[in-house]
Amino acid sequence: MPKVTIVGAGNVGATAAHIIASKNLADVVLVDVAEGLPQGKALDMMHMRSVEKFTVKVTGTNDYADTRGSDVVVITAGVARKPGMTREDLLGVNAGIMRSVMGSALEASPDAVFVCVTNPLDVMTTLAHRESGLPAARLMGMGGVLDSSRLSFAVCEKLGCDPADVEAWAVGAHGEGMVCWPRLTTVKGVPVTELLGADDVAEVVQRCVKGGAEVVGLLKTGSAYYAPGASIAKMVNAILNDTHEVMSVCAHIDGQYGIDDLYMNVPARLGAGGVEEVVEFDLTADELAALRESAASVRAGLANLESL
Ligand code: LAC
Repeated sequence: MPKVTIVGAGNVGATAAHIIASKNLADVVLVDVAEGLPQGKALDMMHMRSVEKFTVKVTGTNDYADTRGSDVVVITAGVARKPGMTREDLLGVNAGIMRSVMGSALEASPDAVFVCVTNPLDVMTTLAHRESGLPAARLMGMGGVLDSSRLSFAVCEKLGCDPADVEAWAVGAHGEGMVCWPRLTTVKGVPVTELLGADDVAEVVQRCVKGGAEVVGLLKTGSAYYAPGASIAKMVNAILNDTHEVMSVCAHIDGQYGIDDLYMNVPARLGAGGVEEVVEFDLTADELAALRESAASVRAGLANLESL
C-alpha cells in the first residue's frame, strides 16, 4: 500500500486525510507538533473505516520517524488567514514553519514527491524548493486545482450546468494576481465566452478570484478546507496512480510561456515522478500578457522572502 504523509493536522490536512482514506488511495500518516491532535483525528477516522468501507490505515504522530519512506508528502502546516488578510500577509510566520518542516520531512522520506499547500503558496513552494534542493519535478504546490474548482463552481451557478461537464482553468499566482482563462474554460467543449456575455464572464471570474476570501469572510475564524482537501486528494491520486492527468499545478516554470525559473500555477501533467511536463496551451497575446503579469506579482512576493 502506498504511504502518504500529511504535515499539519488542522482542517486542511485532516480533510485531505479523510478524502484520501475514503478513496482507499494510501495509508495516511498525519503529523503535527500539537500533542494528541493528529492521534485523535486519526483514531476518529479509523473508527469510520467500517462505515465508509475503506481498508487503508490512518495514523497520527508527533514524530517524523513514523513518516519514514512516504511516497508523497503533503505540507499543510502553517497559519491560515483571518478575515481582511491576504494570503501574502502570512509570509513571515509561515516561512519559519516551512523551513523546519521541510528539513524533517525530507530526511524521513528522501524519495517522496512533495506537495506544498501552506500560504502564500507560490512563495512557500519556492522556499521549500530552495531549502530542500529537490529536483523541481518532485516538488509542487496545490493551488490551481482549488482555484479551478472555484471557477467551475461559479460557471455552474451561472449556467445551471452539470459540474462534470465543466473543464475550468484558473492559473497564475494563488493570490491576488490569480488569472482565469474563460476562453479555455468549457462546458462540454463549448467555451464559456460563447455561452455568457462579457459582464457575466467578468462576474464568474471575480467569484473565482474572491472565492477563498468569500469563505474566510463567512467562517471568520479560518479559511477553506473541504475544497482544498479534495484538491490535494486529486493531485495525490494522479501521482500515486501515475495517471498523466493535466491540471493546474504550482509547478516550476522553466522557459514555458516565456517565464523563467518561477513556481506558479500552470497546466502540468502529473505522474509517478511528480510533474512530468509543464504543458503550454496556445494563448492569445492578452492571455499571455496576463500570465506574465501574474508571474511579476509572484516575483514581488519572492522579493519579500529575500528581505525576511
Ligand atoms: C484558499 C486557501 C487555502 O484558497 O489558499 O482557500
